[in-house]
Amino acid sequence: MQEWEQEEPLIIERGKGTYLIDTDGKRYLDGTSSIWVNLHGHRHPALDRALKQQLDKVAHSSLFGLSNPPAIELARALIRIVPKGLTRVFYSDDGSTAVEIALKMAVQYWQLRRPEAGPKNTFLHLKLAYHGDTVGAVSVGNIELFHSRFKSLLFPTAEADPPYCYRCPLSLTYPSCQMACLDPIERILKERHRELAGFIIEPLVQAAAGMLTSPPGYLKRIRELCTKYNVLLIADEVATGFGRTGKMFACQHEGVTPDLMAISKGLTGGYMPLAATLTTEEIYKGFLGRYADFKTFFHGHSYTGNPLGCAVALANIVVFQKNKTLARLQPKIKTMARLLQPFRQLPHVGDLRQQGFIAAIELVQDCATKTAYPLEARMGHRVAMDARRRGLLLRPIGNVIVLMPPLSTSLPELRRMVEILQASIDTATLLPTAGAGS
Ligand SMILES: Cc1ncc(COP(=O)(O)O)c(C=O)c1O
Repeated sequence: MQEWEQEEPLIIERGKGTYLIDTDGKRYLDGTSSIWVNLHGHRHPALDRALKQQLDKVAHSSLFGLSNPPAIELARALIRIVPKGLTRVFYSDDGSTAVEIALKMAVQYWQLRRPEAGPKNTFLHLKLAYHGDTVGAVSVGNIELFHSRFKSLLFPTAEADPPYCYRCPLSLTYPSCQMACLDPIERILKERHRELAGFIIEPLVQAAAGMLTSPPGYLKRIRELCTKYNVLLIADEVATGFGRTGKMFACQHEGVTPDLMAISKGLTGGYMPLAATLTTEEIYKGFLGRYADFKTFFHGHSYTGNPLGCAVALANIVVFQKNKTLARLQPKIKTMARLLQPFRQLPHVGDLRQQGFIAAIELVQDCATKTAYPLEARMGHRVAMDARRRGLLLRPIGNVIVLMPPLSTSLPELRRMVEILQASIDTATLLPTAGAGS
């Protein structure tokens, strides 16, 4: 805050398509989709209309013992587009709560359905995982900077190394490694499955870790291992869901159906806070019983199933279908790859990762040794500030520059984003760096 207070504040007043417009009327390309939520652009007519029409009916009524048409229709629509076998929908408000719910459901499921399986009350997750900022979600996350201060509040978990190929924890190289990083995971599952309620994973892309992309086949293998050791697979598709990876959901690239799936962010096309945790009939049935059995899942939020959020989420799914968003995205994904390819030659680009319409550029002080920039150099921030001056909004993750624009971004807009990105990386990395010794 101390440094932010000294910067010129940027106050966004309006938006249109891929652009955000500040209080001085300056236009910025939205290179982060407003933190990974916007899909079809700002002020999309169909989404605006859906929200306004619902507002003429009712803004909110609760889901406690009641329901509402948008919540019902949205649940039906979701079941049609998610991985096959996920048939039940539990609403909440944001990605973190969707994850909390998945964790609590998993623990309660094992208590109710398979008491003989023992107290399965902890989780396996990957190092560098990020699943949200609430205490349960932080417990299954592992980003030192976000988590270290709260360690005393967190429940114990099992952790495994992530498939971070650029900085492979096993010092191996893909594909000759044959995904040896899966071996320690199998060991943990074998040894600790009796206490593991689930394995929570960000499928295909560990987003807040710096868009770490997992090699093909990795997720499928995790699914097989979870099935083998009787541990629920929880897919956190909060960042990857709704087309970002090139398919509607990341799990669909590998034909994987998780036991529980958390979605939010793109669920409403970036319009309203809304989330859902989806699950299978098997898990749903575990919670059925007479009132006195108290199998109830005691979890609910005031705004659960909010009709405005559900109405706009429904319109979001309709736009996907009407506009053939996913089909039209494929050439853009290829263009993004082609435009970014020359970045590999830049002197401070250590790694370039892309999965679908998500790209990340890991800047390093020294490519030969993969030496990271020191924290105080704030290299990612410098790039973002330069890009902002040139009319592109970015939100770096440390020294990883993320480009994750709305799926509706046009080819000329994409080209402009990449041009600015290159100019800003050049400007920031070629200037002397505090503490970077260059
Ligand atoms: C994979 C993943 N899970 C959960 C969350 C938390 O979502 P929210 O910020 O809506 O609580 C995020 C947010 O970035 C995320 O990337």
